[in-house]
Amino acid sequence: LQSLFEAPRLAGRRVLVTAGPTREPVDPVRYITNRSSGRMGHAVAAAAALAGARVTLVSGPVTLEAPAGVERLMVETAAQMQETVMAHLPGADIFIATAAVADYRVAQPAQQKIKKQGDTLDLQLVKNPDILALVAASGDRPFSVGFAAETDSLEEHARAKLENKRLDMIAANDVSGGQGFDVDDNALRVFWRDGDCSLPRQSKVTLARALVQVIADRFQMARG
Ligand code: CTP
Ligand code: CA
Repeated sequence: LQSLFEAPRLAGRRVLVTAGPTREPVDPVRYITNRSSGRMGHAVAAAAALAGARVTLVSGPVTLEAPAGVERLMVETAAQMQETVMAHLPGADIFIATAAVADYRVAQPAQQKIKKQGDTLDLQLVKNPDILALVAASGDRPFSVGFAAETDSLEEHARAKLENKRLDMIAANDVSGGQGFDVDDNALRVFWRDGDCSLPRQSKVTLARALVQVIADRFQMARG
């Protein structure tokens, strides 16, 4: 945490954060989702607000309370998350994508509940838009931070995402053996083009504060 005598690191800045899973309908009563709890994203949004930023948090379905002092907008699908993020992008200084966006959605969700019939059921899935890559490719782009959950070759996969999505920074966590998802603490390795740092295992609340300090440092280096 910054000293009492220092101005808040992100005073006057606008920060946009995505969090949680997305929920992709199969039919009116079923959906495809993942194990993301939204805790890391909510902690990041709270930490950015504590650092003085005006924070908008776009969250998929989670059971968490909205952090104090944060504007939270709830969405379900990746398409809704994309629409809400794009609507709030103008004026954003920093975009932090912690959401576990479903990579695919059901091509044609059924209008009625699907009845049990044969021994197998085929669902055709189509790729969802990459919200982070779209933000990072937008004109007047914010400082763009991604998250990557990897089970293997952490640095290689994280650096590939940094390059391919044209990010300013990526925070990677090792989810082999179920670590990171749906748990209270976490550790991160953070990469940018010409550097990296490690944030040791700790509660998501204190980890998010440490990450926001790293983001504020790199943001100030990049944007003054
Ligand atoms: N992301 C996003 N929109 C998507 C998919 C991912 O905004 N449709 C963002 C995530 O919020 C995260 C980053 O991209 O910040 C990396 O997500 P990840 O799932 O690790 O990467 P993918 O590009 O989807 O690759 P893969 O799942 O194959 O590892
Ligand atoms: Ca993915």
